[in-house]
Amino acid sequence: MAGGQEGEEYLFKIVLIGDSAVGKSNLLWRFARNEFDQNSKATIGVEFQTQVVDIDGKEVKAQIWDTAGQERFRAVTSAYYRGAVGALVVYDISRRTTFDSVKRWLDELTTHCDTTVARMLVGNKCDLENIRDVSVEEGKNLAEEEGLFFMETSALESTNVQTAFEMVIREIF
Ligand code: GTP
Ligand code: MG
Repeated sequence: MAGGQEGEEYLFKIVLIGDSAVGKSNLLWRFARNEFDQNSKATIGVEFQTQVVDIDGKEVKAQIWDTAGQERFRAVTSAYYRGAVGALVVYDISRRTTFDSVKRWLDELTTHCDTTVARMLVGNKCDLENIRDVSVEEGKNLAEEEGLFFMETSALESTNVQTAFEMVIREIF
């Protein structure tokens, strides 16, 4: 019989990281609940949502963790990363400072997770083309240098959100 045993389940912990206000929480809400909040407040501590994804006929539970980009609101860092098998490193394409921070986030990830963690660079808010501050090319290049997947997304317009999460889950799987 093809496939795994009956009742077999996969649970993957995936973490969202990146500067404050890049849209981490909205990416999660879009993915897990198909919701968007124009006036979302900065995350305090840790939140997570579980979403079931079908990968080649297998049920995969993705437990996505979201924390504050702001240092003072962050939860215990080591606990946040513990057991993570995937990570989305998010920046805002309309704010270069958030792109400059990516290396710092990658360093933190490397410190707390082993190298096998599936990593994806996400340039969010691609709907803000008129005030774009980081080119697609720059995003691609950085991802290539660091060996990450890359995707631009918009939590607002629901562009590539599903795809970005699914790519990471697929890579883990
Ligand atoms: P912290 O919790 O402080 O780390 O921030 P965050 O990364 O979770 O950001 P959050 O999801 O709260 O979004 C910050 C702001 O950006 C909110 O006003 C959102 O409505 C807005 N935002 C999020 N995603 C998008 C997007 O794709 N496009 C646009 N235009 N705005 C977005
Ligand atoms: Mg948040």
